[in-house]
Amino acid sequence: MSKTTVSAFAKRREAGEKIVMITVGSAAESAAAAAAGIDILLVGDSLGNTMLGFDNTIPVTMEMMLHHTAAVRRGAPEAFVIFDMPFMSYQTGVADAVRNAGRALQESGADAVKLEGGADPELIRKLVDSGIPVLGHLGLLPQRIQTIGGYRIVGRDEEAAEALIAEARGIEAAGAFAVVLECVPGELGRRVTEVLHIPTIGIGSGADCSGQVQVLYDTLGISARTPKHAKRFAELGEAMRGALAAYAAEVRSGTFPAPENTFK
Ligand code: KIV
Repeated sequence: MSKTTVSAFAKRREAGEKIVMITVGSAAESAAAAAAGIDILLVGDSLGNTMLGFDNTIPVTMEMMLHHTAAVRRGAPEAFVIFDMPFMSYQTGVADAVRNAGRALQESGADAVKLEGGADPELIRKLVDSGIPVLGHLGLLPQRIQTIGGYRIVGRDEEAAEALIAEARGIEAAGAFAVVLECVPGELGRRVTEVLHIPTIGIGSGADCSGQVQVLYDTLGISARTPKHAKRFAELGEAMRGALAAYAAEVRSGTFPAPENTFK
């Protein structure tokens, strides 16, 4: 079977077929997502919150992202995997950005990179010209949490909406193959999707985007708090706690290991 390339996603958009993306951070998660037929696996830097226990994504480093992305690749050798460029891996200049994005593809086996923000289309152009497919990311930008002061909806008034549309056009013109829209009003998600030729992948940005991305831990019901834009399709956090309590109880009562778990 031939491996998916970025042109497949443009074709999906043209055909009106929704694109499905989910965040993953381990080999077990990527194997499950690939087996479920998810189109794109994003190793999002939100793993800093979900898997590593940080308060936000600022402490996440290149080394952490390389470690997790390589595991994701091992779990799903055929999947289309995107490496989320962490804080300060691309903000310090074009040369650093190209070097770090190159490491993402060479050392972790990712197929593409994602970076937050639309202010620097030249940076995206340079990456694309270097042979690195880029997924843009507009709207709520968690790596700017220290300056924006909180997680909130972006583009509610017309001036902010038009600025975001201009940034989206800039990202498209620079050669990005798609753009994530995080937490923009549904109407703005629809407008951006209409004006662009590349796919939009929404998270909290309405049903009119060309596709959707969600954080795995929200979707599986592992996160303690569910954002409004997410849906818990399972309650794996509860299931884990129940299974571990049962294990502890059986060890303590002496019923586990049973004879069938014991080597003769
Ligand atoms: O890191 C992440 O999980 C993301 C998604 C929310 C798009 O960037």
